Amino acid sequence: MKVLIVGSGGREHAIAASVAKSKRVEKIYCAPGNGGIAGIAECVNITAMEFDKLADFAEEKQIDLTIIGMDDPLVGGIVDVFEERGLRVFGPRKNAAIIEGSKSFSKDLMKKYGIPTCHYETFHSPEEALLYLENVSYPVVIKADGLALGKGVLICNTPKEAEDGISTLMLDKQFGDAGNTVVIEDFMTGREVSVLCYCDGTNIKQMTSAQDHKRAKDGDQGLNTGGMGTFSPSPFYTEEISKICEEQIYKPTMAAMKKEGRDFVGILFVGLMLTEDGPKVLEYNARFGDPEAQVVLPRMKNDIIDVMEACIDGKLNQIDLEFEDNAAVCVVLASDGYPEKYEKGKLITGLENFDGKDGYYVFHAGTKLTDAGIVTNGGRVLGITAKGENLIEARKNAYAATEWVSFENKYMRHDIGKAIEEVNG
Ligand code: GLY
Repeated sequence: MKVLIVGSGGREHAIAASVAKSKRVEKIYCAPGNGGIAGIAECVNITAMEFDKLADFAEEKQIDLTIIGMDDPLVGGIVDVFEERGLRVFGPRKNAAIIEGSKSFSKDLMKKYGIPTCHYETFHSPEEALLYLENVSYPVVIKADGLALGKGVLICNTPKEAEDGISTLMLDKQFGDAGNTVVIEDFMTGREVSVLCYCDGTNIKQMTSAQDHKRAKDGDQGLNTGGMGTFSPSPFYTEEISKICEEQIYKPTMAAMKKEGRDFVGILFVGLMLTEDGPKVLEYNARFGDPEAQVVLPRMKNDIIDVMEACIDGKLNQIDLEFEDNAAVCVVLASDGYPEKYEKGKLITGLENFDGKDGYYVFHAGTKLTDAGIVTNGGRVLGITAKGENLIEARKNAYAATEWVSFENKYMRHDIGKAIEEVNG
């Protein structure tokens, strides 16, 4: 088989590494890819939003399966373009990817179908939003309705912060049209868990759980980022909680999307808050998490192509998803200054230290292959993942491996997976 992966981050590198393990695959392309993906796939110079060019490429190269990694092309309707041209593609159509593309859509869906989440209101004008904010209790969460590079969620502790948040999103339009509408939600407390699920439009199967660390600095301080590190499984996501989520969240979400005529095929990423009143949905995404994929996929035993094809063909019920009985931790190495200002083009050394090391992975996020070697090319540069028999060992291994690579302005959090200590003493 020939496979094309669309995207350029650590998540797409993790997907490519999984695809490369499939005995069914003889050639992988990635558009546009990055410096690390180039080691296992042929990178193609087409960006993720050039749908027609990507479809032309898939036709020309007789690609058997295209996997869409990123949210923007999914929300923009790339799957519909491929399907209209008779090309086989993994991911939700535009009318289903809206579950990530519009926060107000997803909240209304949960309300209509009784899926547990927190109270919210939707506003289309800053005046109405500000009026509502006069009578809420703080902290409060303000979300841009549309996609905002993972930065459209503001946790506001005071009325002043909330007022500034409304200005940023609705008046200054920092995220363009994504902030034309905002959702204002109650603030939920508890343990956050990410659960990625394969879906075939009718059936949904959850993968092993993970936990992300969204803030830039140790102790969950600093600005929100795309994610600074993950661990899997989450020891807080017990068998009992998993069953509750299955019955109260995952299956009802699939059924709700079907009832709305928006059959969801692809990856449904459910961001959960484990509150005192039970698990509740924080958000839905329509793709693998990044860096959740970097700890979940290395632990998956199935051939990823078999699972994705079963989703497309509506046969997910014939697949037994299996994960290794171990743990994985991913520590993101970023460029100092991320998520604000940072430098690019710094030479990365030591990547060869991962060669032949079983259970260790260096997933490239923002890198570029140049004549001088592989250089930094983004805020999140590398995801260093290590497995271990348990979370404590995986964490020790991952942090040891962060020392194997060097680049100027290398920055990381030092407390990824610290929560593991709470359950292990
Ligand atoms: N790690 C969070 C996300 O992928 O949205």
